[in-house]
Amino acid sequence: MTGMESLNVELGERAYPIHIGPGMLAAPERLRPALEGRRVAVVTNTTVGPLYGEALRATLDQCTISGEPLWIELPDGEQHKTLATVETILTRLLEARLDRGSRIVALGGGVVGDIAGFAAAIYQRGIDFVQVPTTLLAQVDSSVGGKTGVNHPLGKNMIGSFHQPRAVVIDTDTLKTLPERELQAGLAEVIKYGLIRDAGFFAWLEEHIDALRALEPEPLAYAIRRSCACKAEIVAADEREGGIRALLNLGHTFGHAIEAGMGYGAWLHGEAVGTGMAMAARMSERMGWLDRAGRERAEALIRRAGLALEPPAAVTPERFRELMAIDKKVASGRLRLVLLRGIGEAVLTDQFDETALDHTLHEHARVA
Ligand SMILES: NC(=O)c1ccc[n+]([C@@H]2O[C@H](COP(=O)([O-])OP(=O)(O)OC[C@H]3O[C@@H](n4cnc5c(N)ncnc54)[C@H](O)[C@@H]3O)[C@@H](O)[C@H]2O)c1
Repeated sequence: MTGMESLNVELGERAYPIHIGPGMLAAPERLRPALEGRRVAVVTNTTVGPLYGEALRATLDQCTISGEPLWIELPDGEQHKTLATVETILTRLLEARLDRGSRIVALGGGVVGDIAGFAAAIYQRGIDFVQVPTTLLAQVDSSVGGKTGVNHPLGKNMIGSFHQPRAVVIDTDTLKTLPERELQAGLAEVIKYGLIRDAGFFAWLEEHIDALRALEPEPLAYAIRRSCACKAEIVAADEREGGIRALLNLGHTFGHAIEAGMGYGAWLHGEAVGTGMAMAARMSERMGWLDRAGRERAEALIRRAGLALEPPAAVTPERFRELMAIDKKVASGRLRLVLLRGIGEAVLTDQFDETALDHTLHEHARVA
């Protein structure tokens, strides 16, 4: 099979494999080790279920699972990432008398993965689950690392748990049905790994970004594998986000302000992160940390991925400040930003130049 890649997330007893490539949904040998002999509940949604449910069912038939899989199809959308949805899942699991040895398979994007993973984390004090992510963002980010959870009216992702999957099975063919905006949003997270710690990968992306947008199988599987490897290394070093894991937030402080400022959903998370990374690059150049060539390379790649370099004028500098202050409160203290000292070298700091931040927030207001 061309474009097949595998890697392991090294977490001692909780280590797990990630299998990546085209046709993975039809490869029972990838799912069987995690599911054989078990009762299985599949959690998906009303968009992904009709597209890929049949293929998964056929593969489960070949995995010698116990009985028929329980099928749970959630409504689509971030607004359903709630405790109420988790409760619905738990009720279905209890009604079907799934025991502690049962497994959940999450088939869908990051929303499905986060909800299903959290249900797995708390059902009968925790059962194992398998991630079958179907968006690029979920394939390179949310399905790896073990963060699961749901939103609360008072904050996004405020209720949750660390619960590592047993396996992650990534079928790159599923990206063929993904809307282009969603693909571009996922590419922002791919570029992020190059920017924060892998200059070689960044250079590779400069060569292959068009192939990725065209969904060429081999470059796609390679980019996903390398992204997962980056995330896996960071997670292995810092599973619960005490230090280095925070670097994964490059572009996120600016990005969150854009998402919240425009009203959640107007900008996709990855789109906001792409613009946030361009802002971080410009601010880093202003501080003399990143040279001009580095800033230009960062911006060029972000633009070629189909992402905007400038935030929307509707989020004024003052609004940015307000929204970034909320992030600051969460970090209980000074605003901390992830900035760049070079391509492949990110730093988390509260020692930044306020004037550089101010100029970065004002530049688009001047342009607009
Ligand atoms: N757990 C983590 O570490 C982590 C990290 C990053 C983001 N997240 C979470 O992930 C979520 C965002 O995930 P997302 O970007 O995957 O969004 P999503 O799950 O909402 O998927 C985006 C849209 O694409 C649809 N879709 C999914 N796969 C498809 C396919 N193959 N073809 C056609 N349509 C498809 C979905 O139904 C949805 O409408 C957020 O809730 C975010 O908080 C979690």
